[in-house]
Amino acid sequence: MSGTQTLLDEIAGVGADPARGGYSRHVFDHAETQLREWFTERATGAGLEVETDRNGNLWAWWGTPGPDAVVTGSHLDSVPGGGAFDGPLGVASALAAVRALRERGVTPARPLAVVVFAEEEGGRFGVPCLGSRLLTGAIDPDKARRLRDPDGVTLAEAAAGAGLDPARLGPDPERLGRIGRFVELHVEQGRALADLDDAPIAVGSTVIAHGRWRFSFAGQGNHAGATLLADRRDPMLPAAAVVAAARRVAATVPQARATVGRLVPRPGGTNVIASTVDLWLDARVPGEGVHPMVAEIAEAARAAAEDEGCTVTVTEESSSGDVTFDPALRDELGALLGGVPELPTGAGHDAAILAGHVPSAMLYVRNPTGISHAPEEFAEAADVERGGAALRTVLERLCR
Ligand code: GLV
Ligand code: MN
Ligand code: MN
Ligand code: MN
Repeated sequence: MSGTQTLLDEIAGVGADPARGGYSRHVFDHAETQLREWFTERATGAGLEVETDRNGNLWAWWGTPGPDAVVTGSHLDSVPGGGAFDGPLGVASALAAVRALRERGVTPARPLAVVVFAEEEGGRFGVPCLGSRLLTGAIDPDKARRLRDPDGVTLAEAAAGAGLDPARLGPDPERLGRIGRFVELHVEQGRALADLDDAPIAVGSTVIAHGRWRFSFAGQGNHAGATLLADRRDPMLPAAAVVAAARRVAATVPQARATVGRLVPRPGGTNVIASTVDLWLDARVPGEGVHPMVAEIAEAARAAAEDEGCTVTVTEESSSGDVTFDPALRDELGALLGGVPELPTGAGHDAAILAGHVPSAMLYVRNPTGISHAPEEFAEAADVERGGAALRTVLERLCR
């Protein structure tokens, strides 16, 4: 029998990024394609029937696809330089659970599927949970088709390259209608479980509202030595003001997080005053606070751009409201797993997108470093197996 950790070990070399550390696995790139092939092989080997949906999500079915299915899974893409567990832990534990149930001779009374969602991190096309947003109709397919990666390749082009029909990207109500309940297992992405005594597993309670905004500044590219300070229109200055404003404003809003993790000056030379700077703001606040917070940061951007003789445009690329996972399903998971804690999270997940349509829940596995979206993300092998066992227990019960 092959457990969750063994499956994770099988993919440990795929998409390793020595330059950044950790893993860079982006939708339809070489590494993510290899992981899709690995998943298909392992799922087929476990007796599941694998299909790719119109949006590039993979579904591995135990039993005839149909209504009231129990669905579990996560994603195989990563952020740039991400950890080994964010995504793959949920996929590997799902495969291991199915294998174990089959070996025990369990026959589910309803269909069970393991799903791999495409582009959960938005690491290539900028919109997180793209596969589940397309499936559920949370993003306009025309807008999605036009999304571009950093090399200018559109999602439509990349999807066609991966063998999908770009014209068919979009809502898939028939497929969505098959899902009776959805459970995603995930590595914990903060310190909450590590800080508790003896709490390797938790049930998810809420996901806080969040979104991504692009700030595009334009000034005048020029010579770093020959251009007097008084003559400059340097878009890096208002960009820097946004970085500072994000922290300053977020500090005034309870529970807020605001991050500038990506900033692209063009043309990008040490001795060149940039002509443009694009940066991306990731903002998260429970409740209704995210848009007002971003509006305040955008106001600081406009003032700083004007001071420097630059222009700025601010574009919302994606946003999601607060999500509360299904109370009845949470209670059922909690009862099955025997009094594990419930945890809110600031991280986004496909389960939170699905939660608007079908009863959804999450299980978290303790991360002793408390670090995620970085190579230091970790889960002890014993906790990985505890998570796998918890998911197995849950699936066995839900499939009855
Ligand atoms: C996805 O992992 C996110 O919350 O950014
Ligand atoms: Mn992530
Ligand atoms: Mn994830
Ligand atoms: Mn996520």
